[in-house]
Amino acid sequence: MHEVALTVLGVAGLLGIAAFLPPLAFRLNLPFTVLLAVVGCGLGTLVLTLHGLPHVPLVHDLMETFAEGGVTSSLFIAVFLPALLFEAAVAVDVRRLMDDFGHVLLLAVGAVLICVFVVGGTLSAVSSAGIIACLLLGSIVATTDPAAVIGIFRDIGAPRRLSILVEGECLFNDAAAIVMFTLLVGMLKGGAMPDLVSGVTLFLKSFAGGVAFGYLAGRVACLLLPALFGWRMAEMTLTVSLAYVTFVLADHYLHVSGVVAVVAAGLALSAHGRTRMTPSTWETLVETWEQIGFWANALIFLMAAMLVPKMLAGMGWHYLWLLLVLFVATLVARAIVLFGMVPALVRFAAAEPISTPFKVVIMWGGLRGAVSLALALAVTEDTALPAEAKNFVATLTTCFVLATLFLNGTSLRLLIRGLGLDKLSRADREVHHRALILALDEVRERVEAMGKDEEIAEPIVREISGELERRGLDIAMMSEADTPLTPDDRIYIGLATLASHEQELCMEAFREQVISGDLADEALAQVGRLVDGVKINGRAGYEAAVAAGLSFPFDVRVAQWVQYRLGLHLWLARLLSERFEQLLSSEARVRQLLRFTRTHVRPLLGQATAEALTEVLNARLAATQRALTALKEQFPDFARELQRRYLARVSWRLEEEHYRAMLEESTISPEVYEDLARDLGRRRATLDKRLKLDVAMDSESLLARVEMFRDLPADRLRRIAGLLRPRFLVPDEKVVTKGDEGDSMYFIASGALEVKLTTPVSLGSGKFFGEIALLTKRPRTADVVTMSYCRLLELRADDFEQLMHADSALRETINSVADRRLAELGLGPSVGPTPA
Ligand code: CMP
Repeated sequence: MHEVALTVLGVAGLLGIAAFLPPLAFRLNLPFTVLLAVVGCGLGTLVLTLHGLPHVPLVHDLMETFAEGGVTSSLFIAVFLPALLFEAAVAVDVRRLMDDFGHVLLLAVGAVLICVFVVGGTLSAVSSAGIIACLLLGSIVATTDPAAVIGIFRDIGAPRRLSILVEGECLFNDAAAIVMFTLLVGMLKGGAMPDLVSGVTLFLKSFAGGVAFGYLAGRVACLLLPALFGWRMAEMTLTVSLAYVTFVLADHYLHVSGVVAVVAAGLALSAHGRTRMTPSTWETLVETWEQIGFWANALIFLMAAMLVPKMLAGMGWHYLWLLLVLFVATLVARAIVLFGMVPALVRFAAAEPISTPFKVVIMWGGLRGAVSLALALAVTEDTALPAEAKNFVATLTTCFVLATLFLNGTSLRLLIRGLGLDKLSRADREVHHRALILALDEVRERVEAMGKDEEIAEPIVREISGELERRGLDIAMMSEADTPLTPDDRIYIGLATLASHEQELCMEAFREQVISGDLADEALAQVGRLVDGVKINGRAGYEAAVAAGLSFPFDVRVAQWVQYRLGLHLWLARLLSERFEQLLSSEARVRQLLRFTRTHVRPLLGQATAEALTEVLNARLAATQRALTALKEQFPDFARELQRRYLARVSWRLEEEHYRAMLEESTISPEVYEDLARDLGRRRATLDKRLKLDVAMDSESLLARVEMFRDLPADRLRRIAGLLRPRFLVPDEKVVTKGDEGDSMYFIASGALEVKLTTPVSLGSGKFFGEIALLTKRPRTADVVTMSYCRLLELRADDFEQLMHADSALRETINSVADRRLAELGLGPSVGPTPA
């Protein structure tokens, strides 16, 4: 039979078998990959036993394909691996991943390196295989498959952050392990001894190069998306092309890691492409990739598992001993990461800690999957590798993957129950029940309203609505009987219900196009943090997450620095305008939640719980409003424009709904509707344009706001302005620290600051501070902290001297204010520089 046809037959045949396995796995309550492995081994055994049987063309050909593998490993690496990794990257919640990005990256790369060295070291000590072969084995088994752990985390309702940590770690450790693998295969072929320094340099170059190129490719694809005008199939096709073009270009032309590039491209698409498509297109895209990933996963598993019987047949008993050593070594490597590196990260990078039971689950749940198998297959088929090393690596990897599947995979749930982690799910179940009761309630209200509207006979309406009410009561009774709830339980359930309702509100606002996709994404991520907060620490966790959400993130600090040092203010302006919109929409949501608590949560959870929840929400509302007021005071015009736009968007949507209804009722013809829709589209475009926030500050116009400079002639003003550097600060920033050496003084162009004295003194626009240290050459006399957004003009010590010499009026003003302040501080008068 023709070779291509044979391959097609083999692949299609395997896919045919794979199709029946997910439902079977569900029925048998087994992880899907475990079943794939079992079936693969079964097929392999069948091939071995049927091999010599009489010649029946179809059976013979099929067996031949299966026996030969039919598909070469280079195909595995080039076709299936990019698909698997790209799919995983696209599905990740990038915004949440970004919260922990540094940790994930460090953990992933660290975990791979530790695994390679621990496995390499121990196995080379107990086996005759050379050190490089052992290190190679270490790199192959360093990859982990998150599917099993994630599935279980979902079932037990574990905090979402934990799943994201595991998912993200797997994604990058796959990439890092493959980079390592490629390097070591090169060494094994060349017969070179490992050189640590050049190895690590090469590793970092390949990894960092892959990230940079992949990210760039992903961004370019996102820029191209609008050119496809929302054609769903075209957009999907572009992403397929993105995955493979990135892989090949990185690997073959740029000589950086292709797999790392694919992961980075997938993440870039997930972060920036999502909002350039309609939500339904994005969903289709993720689903389609999931399908491709499913095929890749199933084929890799089946084909690799089919080789197992042949390998086992030729395997000596000593392999069992090596397998045991490998198993323990990988566990030790994971333990070093989880119990050594994670606590160090928590201490030095202020990361959130992971509790010990979860660490144990992550350690035991490190199943290995398709990626390890694909790499092992690649080794078996590489003719340039020494046969002994090939055998060693392939056999041990395959057995090890099966061991993790059968041993860890089947016992993970027991472990979770043993550690008491499934308790979380009890309260979650309760949340589910409550949600169901709420839904039934709503349906009942709607049915009754409809009955009245359409004048349906009352007994019929009563019958249907009575049935709904009974079902709601049944669920309520069942859950009460199941678990008597403590007040804390009730608050937990209440907060979780509020959070899930808030998620719905975000989605609704996005669907109705009242908020942009970007904004909706960020809002959803924030709500996700609230959910995690509740799960980790109940009410206190929720409140902590609210506070964290209102604080200024790291990128604002960096943007401030960029503005101050480089004079570039666009980034800062953008972050602040995003914060503005975020706060406005969050304020609107909290108001809706307060109403929801009154109408829906109180009837379910009782008066006391509703009061506690209202208290939490009111505190959140007040904090949000404080943050908003601070912004509004500094940018009143922007605030007005934002509000105007918000209302304009709502009116736009109502108008659109109206036209559509008119079309459906045939009040207007399709042509007229088209016309109206076009006009609507045009107006929408102006509503969606990003609003510019003006943080640009030229020293001259700011200087004019400072009292003592106001009446200076224009040329003097310009000269002084040339000496001053504008700074933009957010609330609660410390500008001057008591006891520090002074190198600048500041004029306040707008905003307010507080001098932290025993009786604090506040300074508003037009005033100055920080002059005492410059005049007296003594340490700073007090902390000065911003109370609102502030624009300051900074005068450095050298320029200060110059200005004081040149301008006697200024000198007098500053000296007299300083003397008064010094007197208040109980210190002697200043010794100002003498006039020129
Ligand atoms: P310096 O000592 O350089 O740093 C802290 C600043 O706080 C100080 O300069 C003054 O500008 C300011 N400051 C100190 N005391 C007072 C005060 N009583 N009233 C207003 N500002 C003050």
